[in-house]
Amino acid sequence: MNLASPRVVNIKDLRNLARARLPDAVFDYLDGAADDEVTLKDSERAFREVIFKPRFAVATPSCDLSVTVLGHRLAQPFMLGPIGYSRLMHPRGELAGSAAAGRHGTAYILSTLSGHPLEDVKAQSPGLTFFQLYLAGGRKAAEGGIARAKAAGYKALFVTIDTPVSGNRERDARNGMKALMGTNPFAKIPYLPNLLAHPRWLAAFIADGMVRPFPNVVIPGSGPLAAIDVASALESAQVSWTDLKWIREVWDGPIVIKGVMTADDAKRSVDAGAAGIVVSTHAGRQLDCVAGPLRVLPGIVEAVGRQIDVIFDGGIRRGSDVVKAIGLGAKAVLLGRGYAYGMAAAGDAGVERALEIFEADIIRTLKLLGCSSISQVDSSYVTTRPGFRVD
Ligand SMILES: Cc1cc2nc3c(=O)[nH]c(=O)nc-3n(C[C@H](O)[C@H](O)[C@H](O)COP(=O)(O)O)c2cc1C
Repeated sequence: MNLASPRVVNIKDLRNLARARLPDAVFDYLDGAADDEVTLKDSERAFREVIFKPRFAVATPSCDLSVTVLGHRLAQPFMLGPIGYSRLMHPRGELAGSAAAGRHGTAYILSTLSGHPLEDVKAQSPGLTFFQLYLAGGRKAAEGGIARAKAAGYKALFVTIDTPVSGNRERDARNGMKALMGTNPFAKIPYLPNLLAHPRWLAAFIADGMVRPFPNVVIPGSGPLAAIDVASALESAQVSWTDLKWIREVWDGPIVIKGVMTADDAKRSVDAGAAGIVVSTHAGRQLDCVAGPLRVLPGIVEAVGRQIDVIFDGGIRRGSDVVKAIGLGAKAVLLGRGYAYGMAAAGDAGVERALEIFEADIIRTLKLLGCSSISQVDSSYVTTRPGFRVD
């Protein structure tokens, strides 16, 4: 597939290609969010309320994009965030994400709900990989995943705290995601015409063995977690601050708390011994009508930015968005849909194109701002429109 310019100029173009390749159920699983998708829209809108303050006529022949996160030097100010069941979008899914992150000198964060075994994902990249943890399946299953991640060389644990239950994703309900993930063939019949209308995706999905259980959540006595059981498994194993003490005992590396939206939870994360937090609304897929996360970032940075690494995600669709988040105090960001649209459109080549676009955008933005490195970007290069900030 030709992904070069002018066919693919920006991330929206990759989104359009993903929409064309995927059946509605899978595209909406990736693209959709909770309830009325207020938070999703606000996540993107918030970036338009940040205004650059450039300094011109300062020569910036080269641009250093490197940042230090969790004690590791990354060649990019972005990492690839955990996207559950990437393999549903493309057979290479998580493998493509990990390989591309490695090529670009940055980290890949693997979801607990990966379609590929964590060892195979790690083997794709000579670079950094981190493991995102849900307690789905219970502590014993989590312990198994953590031990395997440690043995495979994952360097940090991202514990997601914003998923006590799955959010109300109405697009998934309409598209019959449950029926499609389940084992009853008759329940799938109403959705077949749409699947058949996307033959490239369908052929790849069938050749890949169709719906698979999750290989990194092995429940003692019953085996890998089935896709249809994810929602109930998450609900019956909600993570709490008490679990964090236990996680500390079974994982001796750095822990990052993902899904922090208040200064209170940020301080709690510091008290729990976290090395970092991710300011995130889980892509607006959990509680709707929370603020776009960029709006709470400055307050959280003020509260804990000197003590731990504040990472940001949500609504990043351009390299200039990455620069804005760093200007508001983030150490680095996670890309979510920003790279996953590329993966869904064209596997490895699609993720590669997404990262190329982000990298080129960031360099151009820095040069236009008059910065020779991302580490030079601070609050003096950005301001926000009145009413932007939420504390
Ligand atoms: C389809 C999809 C699946 C996701 N799965 C997970 C997951 O398994 N674990 C997790 O912590 N976050 C998950 N997230 C949230 C992302 O890691 C990240 O926080 C979010 O995508 C950032 O927002 P953005 O997509 O607007 O950039 C998922 C997001 C999407 C879109």
